[in-house]
Amino acid sequence: MSEVAPYSRLAGVYDEIVVDPCFGRWAGFLDHLWQADPGGVAAVLDVCCGTGLLAAELVARGYRVTGVDASVAMLARARRRLGPDAVLELVVLPDLPAVGRFDAAVSTFDGLNYLDQRGFWMTMAGLAERLRPGGWLVFDLHTDAMLQLALHTPTVAGEQDGTSYVIHNVVDLGERTCDARIQVTGTDAGEPFSERHRQYFHTDAEVRAALAAAGFEQVAVTEEYTRVPVDENTLRATWTARRRLT
Ligand SMILES: C[S@@+](CC[C@H](N)C(=O)[O-])C[C@H]1O[C@@H](n2cnc3c(N)ncnc32)[C@H](O)[C@@H]1O
Repeated sequence: MSEVAPYSRLAGVYDEIVVDPCFGRWAGFLDHLWQADPGGVAAVLDVCCGTGLLAAELVARGYRVTGVDASVAMLARARRRLGPDAVLELVVLPDLPAVGRFDAAVSTFDGLNYLDQRGFWMTMAGLAERLRPGGWLVFDLHTDAMLQLALHTPTVAGEQDGTSYVIHNVVDLGERTCDARIQVTGTDAGEPFSERHRQYFHTDAEVRAALAAAGFEQVAVTEEYTRVPVDENTLRATWTARRRLT
């Protein structure tokens, strides 16, 4: 089985095997939040936009979305979904070129877990520079409960529409990392392939410190795109913050 770069071949089957039908619900949460902002939210930066699943939901709700991602193949899928006029840029965080000024930035489905600690801090600082004063930053991160789940579930397998996948997780609790080897087989996926994905599990204290250092305030941490506070069972925590006004 050939090993390929993260999110190269996976892009072709991402929508089928990786996601659950959550993006409408998540966009509804964001829309509700932003509608209440008297400053208005129109321009949104979708960070690690992937195949554009969230961006499509936001565009449908009237937002002007710019998507950035490090994967050419994921961006190609996003282009197909969002059309020729969509603004999509190849961006490898933590480098964040001047792609515009935004009322809000969002990153869904653990995109920011791909950044190591330094990359995460730099990305928070870069996003603050691209948001207007009072602009919104909303993202989700895998939690300690997810790290424990990966530790105790070293192998996960599934099948969707003729595509089969097996994920082998290797957790390093000291480094707070999870290396997932994703093997994909099946006619829809063409030749079998595997990808290695490393995710970093940032502590709450680190995330809060990075947000504060970058100039974010009004930080809230809730259960996956809801207003429900997190608890020790939360697998995906949603972080909401505002760029300081001055
Ligand atoms: C799990 S996918 C999430 C995609 C999308 N946000 C969603 O909700 O479906 C993670 C995405 O992060 C992107 N990514 C990972 N590391 C990145 C980096 N350093 N800079 C930019 N994008 C990155 C990957 O290419 C991939 O598209």
